[in-house]
Formats: sequence, C-alpha cells, structure tokens
Amino acid sequence: VTEPDLVGRHVVVTAGGTREPLDPVRFLGNRSSGKQGYALARTAAARGARVTLIEGNTGLPDPAGVDVVRIGTAVQLREAVLKAAPDADVVVMAAAVADFRPETYATGKIKKRDGQEPEPIVLVRNPDILAEISADRSRPGQMIVGFAAETDDVLANGRAKLARKGCDLLVVNEVGERKTFGSEENEAVVLGADGSETPVPYGPKEALAETVWDLVVSRLG
Ligand code: C5P
Repeated sequence: VTEPDLVGRHVVVTAGGTREPLDPVRFLGNRSSGKQGYALARTAAARGARVTLIEGNTGLPDPAGVDVVRIGTAVQLREAVLKAAPDADVVVMAAAVADFRPETYATGKIKKRDGQEPEPIVLVRNPDILAEISADRSRPGQMIVGFAAETDDVLANGRAKLARKGCDLLVVNEVGERKTFGSEENEAVVLGADGSETPVPYGPKEALAETVWDLVVSRLG
C-alpha cells in the first residue's frame, strides 16, 4: 500500500544522461538508461508529490501525471535544474552528467582526410550541478540527493563524495556486469550526511526509489 506521504511536496528528479556534441552528428555520452530516475519520478507521483522530471536522452515515454522537461547537454541540464530548484522541496540528481565537454563544436561534420593524423579532442570541465545547488540552498529545509556510481572502495569513495558535494543523501551503487546501467535492477547503499548508512539489496529500481523517498520523508520538516 502506497502512503500519500509526499502530498503537497514538489520534487525535482533528473534522469538519463547528457550528450556533449562534437559536431552535428557526434557526441560524447554515457550509458545511463534513465530507468532509475523514471522509477523515482513514478514512485514520487504515486506518493502524492508534484513531480518535475528533467530528462536527458532516455527515449522513455513520459510517466503519467509528471511534468517532463527535456535537455541534451550538461549546460542545459544546469539551466533546467536552477530554474526548477528554488520551488522544490526535494531535488534528486539521478542523471549521469558528463564531467567534461568538448571545448569546441564544429558546425560542419568533422572529416577524415587521407594521410592526416586525427585532431585531438580538447575537453573543458562542465559545471558540477549537484555541488552548486547543495552550496546554494536557496530554499530552507530543502533536501538534496545525489547518486554515485563507483567501481571500487564504494563506501569510502561514497563518503568522500557526499562531503565534497554537500548533499543530504548520496545513493552509491557499484557498477558491475548485471547492475546499474540499462538494467531493471539495482543494488546500493544510501549514505546520509547525518552518518546514516542504509543498504538496499539487489532488486527492482522501484524498490530503491521507495527507500530513497522513505529516507527523504523521514528527514523533511
Ligand atoms: O562526481 P560524480 O559524477 O560521480 O557525481 C555524481 C552525482 O553528481 C550525480 O548525482 C550527478 O547527477 C551529479 N553531477 C552533477 N554535475 C556534474 C557531475 C555530476 O550534478 N557535472
């Protein structure tokens, strides 16, 4: 039975991944399917929240009763998050954001030329949206949740990342063969800035989403 414990709350969820264009036909991207973010949006709506889902490159159908904002790049994602965040009780950054983008965008398709070495791709840093909104705290009592995919020293890296980003909760998952990217299942530990540690066993992404909302609800004023 779903409790309507998010009634009257506005939650913003980011989902999917950013694509950083090199030219009109090519981009730097990542393997995020958006399924975890969509599960968060669906379950929040089922618990009564008003949901803004900021979506990048998932190709997934819009969940019922959710406002969907589409973005492509990290810079566009930042704009959409900064626009929605001041009105949000909760922001969950489930999207995989490119840390870097190509410094230049070629307006025409980059060509290969016989006998010429390829041009190196020069990257510049993207803004860290999670760190930025966590530092801002424009709305008192707002809860900010981040995600982290780690391959080793999951808990130690997660703790360090939680402190670095300044968010309230960090969902840390180990990236593996069957887990996380594109899969229907996930397994994670949710770390709290208050020192809490909540393991979520391997299971559907919906179950992890419900645990995140349980932890958020117990911390909202
Ligand atoms: O630093 P890392 O990419 O591992 O952090 C992951 C978390 O930070 C995710 O919640 C992601 O949405 C967020 N992030 C961000 N802006 C970036 C990179 C990551 O908001 N440029």
